[in-house]
Amino acid sequence: MTTQALDEIKIGGLGSSRKRVEDDRFIRGKGNYTDDVVLPGMLHMEILRSPLPHARIKSIDTSKAWAVPGVHLVLTGEMMATRNLAWMPTLSYDTQAVLATDKVRFQGQEVACVIADDPYIAKDACELIEVDYEALPPIVNPWQGLEPDAPVIRDDKVGQDGNVIYNWEVGDKAGTDRAFEQADLVSKLELHYPRSHPSPIECCGSVADFNRATQKLTVYMTTQAPHIIRAAVAMVAELPEQMIRIISPDIGGGFGNKVPVYPGYVCSILASILLERPVKWIEDKTGNLISTGFARDIYLKGEMALRKDGKILGVRMHTDADHGAFFSDAQPSKFKIGLMHSAFAAYDIPAAHLTARGVYTNKAPGGVAYRCSFRVTEAMFFQERMVQAAAADLGIDQAEFRRMNFVRDDDFPHRTPFGFLTDSGQYAKCLDVGLKAIDYENFRKEQAEARKQGRLLGLGISTMTEPLGAGNSREYDILGIKMFDSAELKIHMTGKAILRTGAKSQGQGHETTWAQIVAHELGIPADDITVEEGDTDTAPFGMGTYASRSTPVAGAAVAMVSRKIRAKARKLAAHLLEVSEEDVEWELGRFYVRSAPQRGVSIQECAMAAYSNMPDGMEPGLENTAYYDPPNLTWPFAVYIVTVEVDRETGVWDVLRMVAVDDCGVRINPMIVEGQIMGGLTEAYAMASMQFITFDADGNCVGSNYMDYLLPSAWETPGYELHSEVVTPCPHHPIGAKGIGECAAVGGPAAFVNAVMDALEETGVRNIDMPVLPDRVWEAITYRRDVS
Ligand code: CDP
Repeated sequence: MTTQALDEIKIGGLGSSRKRVEDDRFIRGKGNYTDDVVLPGMLHMEILRSPLPHARIKSIDTSKAWAVPGVHLVLTGEMMATRNLAWMPTLSYDTQAVLATDKVRFQGQEVACVIADDPYIAKDACELIEVDYEALPPIVNPWQGLEPDAPVIRDDKVGQDGNVIYNWEVGDKAGTDRAFEQADLVSKLELHYPRSHPSPIECCGSVADFNRATQKLTVYMTTQAPHIIRAAVAMVAELPEQMIRIISPDIGGGFGNKVPVYPGYVCSILASILLERPVKWIEDKTGNLISTGFARDIYLKGEMALRKDGKILGVRMHTDADHGAFFSDAQPSKFKIGLMHSAFAAYDIPAAHLTARGVYTNKAPGGVAYRCSFRVTEAMFFQERMVQAAAADLGIDQAEFRRMNFVRDDDFPHRTPFGFLTDSGQYAKCLDVGLKAIDYENFRKEQAEARKQGRLLGLGISTMTEPLGAGNSREYDILGIKMFDSAELKIHMTGKAILRTGAKSQGQGHETTWAQIVAHELGIPADDITVEEGDTDTAPFGMGTYASRSTPVAGAAVAMVSRKIRAKARKLAAHLLEVSEEDVEWELGRFYVRSAPQRGVSIQECAMAAYSNMPDGMEPGLENTAYYDPPNLTWPFAVYIVTVEVDRETGVWDVLRMVAVDDCGVRINPMIVEGQIMGGLTEAYAMASMQFITFDADGNCVGSNYMDYLLPSAWETPGYELHSEVVTPCPHHPIGAKGIGECAAVGGPAAFVNAVMDALEETGVRNIDMPVLPDRVWEAITYRRDVS
């Protein structure tokens, strides 16, 4: 390491595994979450949810609820409708019921709210509301929804005929058809990526506080994107934007679940406006699991055109996405199925074509980007399962098959088969590091020996690259709002600083890492910098945190605003050193005279001068704001390799080893990056092995609590061996960083499934759908058939 790099580590700059500053308050129980907010005169709101998945509402009688002592307000859809708030727009140009008026469309849908002195009174009063439902047949999968005589779920929408939401296509159809004509072999695979739930430990909630005297509305809420909420409230409730203050206090995990606008937020706001008192709504776990944004639930059909030497000539993909009753996931407006077409970005494939169809069903809104960029998790899972199946069909080693089809290091910038532009990566090198770490050749020998003894060992590889950091604003917007982000930095006169960004951490450690970027750029020790996010009255406008966009966009803005500060500090230094600006050089934390390096001033001395000794004509102060619109997305790359042993008697599979090689460019804080990878791999393991929210034929949600919907504990979670030796800096990011937060959750699931499928090679079974539960594995082994 250079002396400069060592000096930088000392002040907590780039590359320092600085301890997370936010953890002091979290582990001492001193965090400030939405449920910790207590305001004078605060009331409590509870929601009555529909027990039926599809039913016409004949009448709602709230009289008994109103009569309960301590009840202040009972809200119904009819009352919301008088204020034009029974429906709200979604992030995907659809509409969603706030409180049902005409029909309920999924089990758990919000039907009424009670606001009372405490949550127990409110809950009891909810149970006294009498709703007369006329049950309608439920639709629990896209195939039922597509039947010609299927009931139309969204009969509220003018012009809606049937249950199809969209039909979308992307890619080169003619070129792909030609590739299939030239193929020696066509490999096919069909999969279902099941519905899963981001399931943050903290559920959703809000405390709305409308002050009639000041006309100011303050809302504390669990949102990953406070500025977007402020804009939405201003537009939907027609309140002046400057009179709305959204505060996201500490958030106990988001994973995409806290991006959408939920009815509970809207109702608590309206209740506070009507009652002129603060109103708190805190969702319980079942409410969160059955009604808030689900992820995945997508059926995939793929075909790969192959030459017999192993070259992939083309890919055809079709997806049917089950979006539930309202199409409400966030997505860039131009891409109906999120960024599903990032599939195969790491492979050099001449032609590809994707068709995508979205269908309404009687389920809670789905398709939320659970720890992923829109739909990249599904894309990478599909890709890596298909690649493994194709290698097996060709009889080529799966590692070799990947290597021969990877985009090569000197092929960048590379246009992907669906039109993205990737700019950097060392894919084969990452694979080599992974294969060496898992001792690939030896494992294959061990596996062959084990097979002779009847034992089933398997090895699964998954690779991924994904587009992280939306925008650029040319291509990415949500509801027309361009995707960029921001940072504002104020250096106090003593050289300490406060930094605010438009992002919002939900546990990712921004308070730690953003300060490290400033330390790197300005030489101010990270411990001297306070980081604040989440308050729309103080933070600059930003699009929030999801899709691992914080480092690529807000993190870049932090570097850029620091550079603006440095440019002004240089002028101050020249003034203090009595030389011209051109004669001033910079090193970490200090300007000096080029011809006399011992004559210098620190950044702290420049800060003091900005308030006490600035040159004539210079505006006082040392602060600035940067809005950053990235030229491109960042493209991290990863290789995950898992080995497993499957018990042929029970179908139980155990992870023997898991190796992860992540290349996210320059790592700001290596320890935090490792934490992100371990967390993501654990979620990947959960999806692959145990998580299961399904619906019975009557539309009942199975998986509405933690007895049925499983989170892996430390006991089940396998150990991970992480590798960080491959670093390909992002060519356009100011500090060379790429996003990392979601990579492991995106790429991990296929590694586990591929490992089990590899162990089951002798059965000839092509696919077991996730979760790969022991009974499914047993069925595959016993009956030698695919299991879905
Ligand atoms: O948007 P989100 O914060 O969820 O994801 P991210 O930008 O990938 O960052 C997750 C955490 O890892 C943040 O604390 C980042 O600053 C940190 N990180 C890092 O230290 N180095 C990178 N190259 C990427 C992220």
